[in-house]
Amino acid sequence: MTTKPMIEAAFGRPTKRKPIWFLRQAGRYLPEYREVRKNVEFTELCKTPKLAAEVTLQPLRRYDLDASIIFSDILVPCMPMGQELTFGKGHGPQLNPPIQSGAALAKLKKPDAEKDLGYVGEALQLVKDQLQDHQTMIGFAGAPFTVASYMIEGAGSKTYTELKRLRYQEPEAFKGLLDLLVETTIDYLIMQVNAGADCLMLFDTWANQMTAVDYKDLVFPAVNKVIREVKDRCDVPLIYYPGQGTDLYFELQGYAGDVIAVDWRTRLSRAISFLDNVGLDVSVQGNLDPQVLIASEDVVREHTRQVLQEAGKARGHIFNVGHGLQPHLNPEAVNWVIDEVRKSEKS
Ligand code: CP3
Repeated sequence: MTTKPMIEAAFGRPTKRKPIWFLRQAGRYLPEYREVRKNVEFTELCKTPKLAAEVTLQPLRRYDLDASIIFSDILVPCMPMGQELTFGKGHGPQLNPPIQSGAALAKLKKPDAEKDLGYVGEALQLVKDQLQDHQTMIGFAGAPFTVASYMIEGAGSKTYTELKRLRYQEPEAFKGLLDLLVETTIDYLIMQVNAGADCLMLFDTWANQMTAVDYKDLVFPAVNKVIREVKDRCDVPLIYYPGQGTDLYFELQGYAGDVIAVDWRTRLSRAISFLDNVGLDVSVQGNLDPQVLIASEDVVREHTRQVLQEAGKARGHIFNVGHGLQPHLNPEAVNWVIDEVRKSEKS
């Protein structure tokens, strides 16, 4: 069996080449994605395995990538839990009804991963059949807290007032929602591994919206329980992205995963020594500023080299951006990044 550089790097083993992929590598910056999206709503796209597989594969046709991430969204499981998910033009995801009380929580159900979310597994299998041996198939989910934040607010938020209201006024309902999401996420991720995922990633984009004490007592234990249980049952590496949460690294003792995905705002060398100081033996992923991809070729290449240099002391490094690619960036710039990473291996 050919080894996959991304899996090796995630486990901290030496690799023949530096693995590289991009958060949101499928999406609106690609004309071929916009072409598919013209005719289909985002949630329908996620629910239709053939189309989801097609857009997942689009960046792999263009670029020399080491991984493919299944095209879906962290909010997809909210639908079988009992919320309607829509993506209105220009205002991101909306979930109805929002979960703002114990009574609303009581109406939610735990999905049957195979039955209710099997379309994600089907898409994953279709993609996996098309991958080359060295390429890793990544499955993913939102971390319980970040998904809960959308479920409670009913949308994205700047102030998280409803989230805080539930946390402070009905703490048991807040904890109950996290617990339900822990169980849902475990089944959902295991289903993805059974369908062919070689590696898993958990997105906790809004982890830094809580006090550090709540992060330690509520947010992190929820995601770490998911990681522990999945790792107990599946032999795949796990990547955790704690949003812009460098200060939260203090609270990651006992982290059961293999990789921390570092936000682009953080200096990678500092993140590496910080994680080491906290006692974690982990690899890192990241962390080019995705907005660099609007710049000229020289600037893109210079910033790529900077990330490579910053990653120097890592146990293992998976090259990536430090947050998702955005619609306005230049698709050609992705090639400059990849070429610069490959060049650095030859020198
Ligand atoms: O990386 C990939 O290629 C896989 C696909 C992927 C999407 N969303 C597709 C998507 C992944 C891994 C996600 C995760 C996700 N979704 C997160 C965590 C990562 C992060 O960005 O912090 C969050 C917070 C969401 C929730 C979400 N979904 C938001 C806030 C939005 C709107 C933002 C936007 O760009 O409009 C989405 C929609 C979404 N998810 C799009 C894509 C490609 C845009 C949909 C479209 O209009 O075509």
